[in-house]
Amino acid sequence: PKKKTLETIRNMYKKGTPIVMMTAHDFPSGLAADMAGVDMVLIGDSLAMVALGMEDTNEVELEDIIHHSKAVSRAVKSAFLVADLPMGSYEISPEHALTSALRLIQKGRSHSVKLEGGLEMAPTIRKLTSVGIPVLGHIGLTPQRQHSLGGFKVQGKSVKTALALLDDAFAVQEAGAFGMVLECIPAPIAEVITEELSIPTIGIGAGNPTSGQVLVQTDMSGNYPRGRFIPKFVKVYADIFEQTKRAIEQYAVEVRERSYPEEVHSYKIDEKVVDEFKE
Ligand code: KIV
Ligand code: NA
Repeated sequence: PKKKTLETIRNMYKKGTPIVMMTAHDFPSGLAADMAGVDMVLIGDSLAMVALGMEDTNEVELEDIIHHSKAVSRAVKSAFLVADLPMGSYEISPEHALTSALRLIQKGRSHSVKLEGGLEMAPTIRKLTSVGIPVLGHIGLTPQRQHSLGGFKVQGKSVKTALALLDDAFAVQEAGAFGMVLECIPAPIAEVITEELSIPTIGIGAGNPTSGQVLVQTDMSGNYPRGRFIPKFVKVYADIFEQTKRAIEQYAVEVRERSYPEEVHSYKIDEKVVDEFKE
C-alpha cells in the first residue's frame, strides 16, 4: 500500500474527499485499521479505557501512550499516524508540550500529535508546528477537561458558546494545526466551522458535513461487553466481543469434554518410536 502523508491528507481535503480516521491501541487493532485502508490512525488516549481498563482518559500517562503507539506503528504501513498528548504532558508550557511531543514521535514512532484545547493552546500548537511536528487540534467536547465541563456534554448549543467554538477553531488553525477534531458539536454548528476553515475538520458526534470522521475502534466494532454505555454518535458495525467470548466458551466446553484437540491438531510420529519409548 502507498504511504499516506500529510500531503495526502491535504490533497483529500482540497478535493473534498472524506477523510477516514480510526483509533488503534495495539498491533492487531493497528493492522485491522491499516489493512482496511483508513487514511489516519489515531493512538487516542481513549486507550485508557479500551486497552488499560481505566475509568477515563485522565489517568493515562505519556509513557502508556508511547508504549501503545510503538505497537501500533509496527502494524501501520499506509495510514498517517496521530498520537494523543495525554493530560499532564503538555499544559504547563509550550516547552513542556514540545518535550512530550518529541517523545511521541521519536519513541512512539508517531507522525504527528493531537492535543485538546482552543485559543489558550495556540502558543503551544505554534511551538510544535514551528519545529516540524504536525499537530491535530481537538475542540468541542474535550474529555480531558470533563470536570470543568461538568461531564461529557454536547458543546456549542447556544449562540455564545458556538461563537466561542468558532474562535477556538480559528485560533487552532492560525497556530498551524493541519486539522482539528470536532467532538460532540451540533451538526449545523460543525458544518459552519468546517465551511469557515481552510483545514480539515474530523468529526466525532459532529454530524455528517465535517471533512472526515473518527471513531474509537472498540466502540464501532462492538468489542466490549453488552450493556456497556456507548455514546449516541457511535454506529456499531460488528459484534466482536460476543464473537470472541462465544469462541472461548466453545473452547472451554471442548477442553472439558476432551473433544479438542482432535487428530488434525496433534503431531504424529512413527508407531515404532512410540512402542520403544514406552518400554
Ligand atoms: O482518544 C480518542 O480516541 C480520541 C478520539 C475519540 C477523537 O481522542
Ligand atoms: Na483523545
